[in-house]
Amino acid sequence: MNTTPPVDSGADRALTRRALLGGGALLGGTALGGAVVGHAAAAHGVLNPAVGSAVGSAASGANPLSMDLMALHGQSAEPFYGAHQAGILTGQQAHGEFLGINLSPGSPRARVITLMEMLTDDAARLTQGEPTLGALEQFPAGLPSRLTITFGFGPGLFAAIGAPAKCPPMVATFPAFSSDRLLPQWGQTDLLIQLCADDPITLAYAARRIIRDVVPFGTIAWTQRGFVNARGTETDGTTSRNLMGMRDGSANEKDPRQIADVVWSRTAGDKNLSWLDGGSQVVVRRIRMDLTTWDDLETDAKEVAFGRRFADGTPLTGGAERDQIDRAKKDKDGFTIIAPNAHAGLAQPRNAGERMLRRAYNYSDGTTADGRQDEGLIFVAYQSDLATAFVPVQRRLAPVDALNTWTTHVGSAVYAVPPGVQEGSYIGATLLGR
Ligand code: HEM
Repeated sequence: MNTTPPVDSGADRALTRRALLGGGALLGGTALGGAVVGHAAAAHGVLNPAVGSAVGSAASGANPLSMDLMALHGQSAEPFYGAHQAGILTGQQAHGEFLGINLSPGSPRARVITLMEMLTDDAARLTQGEPTLGALEQFPAGLPSRLTITFGFGPGLFAAIGAPAKCPPMVATFPAFSSDRLLPQWGQTDLLIQLCADDPITLAYAARRIIRDVVPFGTIAWTQRGFVNARGTETDGTTSRNLMGMRDGSANEKDPRQIADVVWSRTAGDKNLSWLDGGSQVVVRRIRMDLTTWDDLETDAKEVAFGRRFADGTPLTGGAERDQIDRAKKDKDGFTIIAPNAHAGLAQPRNAGERMLRRAYNYSDGTTADGRQDEGLIFVAYQSDLATAFVPVQRRLAPVDALNTWTTHVGSAVYAVPPGVQEGSYIGATLLGR
């Protein structure tokens, strides 16, 4: 399942509006249009001043559809420094790459610090459209496309630095679930690096530079690549669809104060976990889908399985897409409208602690040995505590979820996600010190 961008980037909305304004002006006069577009690009964190004219010439084909061409976003950059890591509340980018990394055996704390200092520097540069230190070419990094690079620490990293007590309990002892069919190649690792961007070339380049710096310190156990709708397919902020065709992410919390409550760690002075204040916990599950029978299912049966409408994601109990479903509402015969095993009904939080922010990506990775498509969902959810959110919800889903007919959990990993960083420091400094 994927999410609607939880916090829409104001800059992006501004660009779209300004780009449209620019388009209107262009139809009446190219010079004015070019100026407006140039301004839009500048407002959007443009790194290459040439973009104004580049956009202007792309748009000057006098085709009204060229308005779309003006909404270039390759040079949009997301801030790297801040109280929280980027890539969590950032409006979801079209492409995601997840790297599961294991540290070399016997990596002492000093080595982990060196690694994190280097990766922080890499991420600070790449996300702002700059090459990493030592890169010979400027160009490949020059279109950050809202690139974010986010880091998570698995239990093995805490063991390596001799501080197992500082690992959040549910990251250290994540349970198995009855419907798990986990494969070792998608398992727990010491370090997670989540890279997201609107452009797949940007993403591939950033991943390559990051991997190059990781390799002397450890091994890449797995790479998972995923996508949601390409940017520009629908209006920014529209909830993307998963490969089952459903809008996915509709019920994510929208109120920024509530989102903060859902996502950021609160350790109430616990001396082992206070390093995580301003951080989060993330679960990454690889969920394979078998959609051959799903595609042949009538639409209303699909809707019963989810509890939401196929066309627009609205709850079967009425209201608009972003509204909550009403699990108690009954039909004229006295039956609840939401089936007891409907996915969204079962997953709906029963208390505030169960809330999570879903930020998942679809995957489609060629064909399996038996000739079927290898496709599914990289389920990614951030929460302040896995113990109160993902774990109880997945315990409810595992035995009876209507989706189980078509979905199989084949990968699972969980991480503590350090807080953000200010310039001059590095990601993980609150845990690792200096
Ligand atoms: C392939 C597997 C899955 C698919 C295709 C899927 C898809 C969906 C869809 C379409 C919705 C309704 C729209 C929305 O609110 O986003 C939904 C809701 C939800 N799902 Fe999933 N999901 C999957 C797995 C999971 C898992 C493993 C969990 C967590 C254990 C989960 C947690 C939730 C939650 C919390 C909601 C919102 C419920 C509400 O408050 O209405 N999902 N999912």
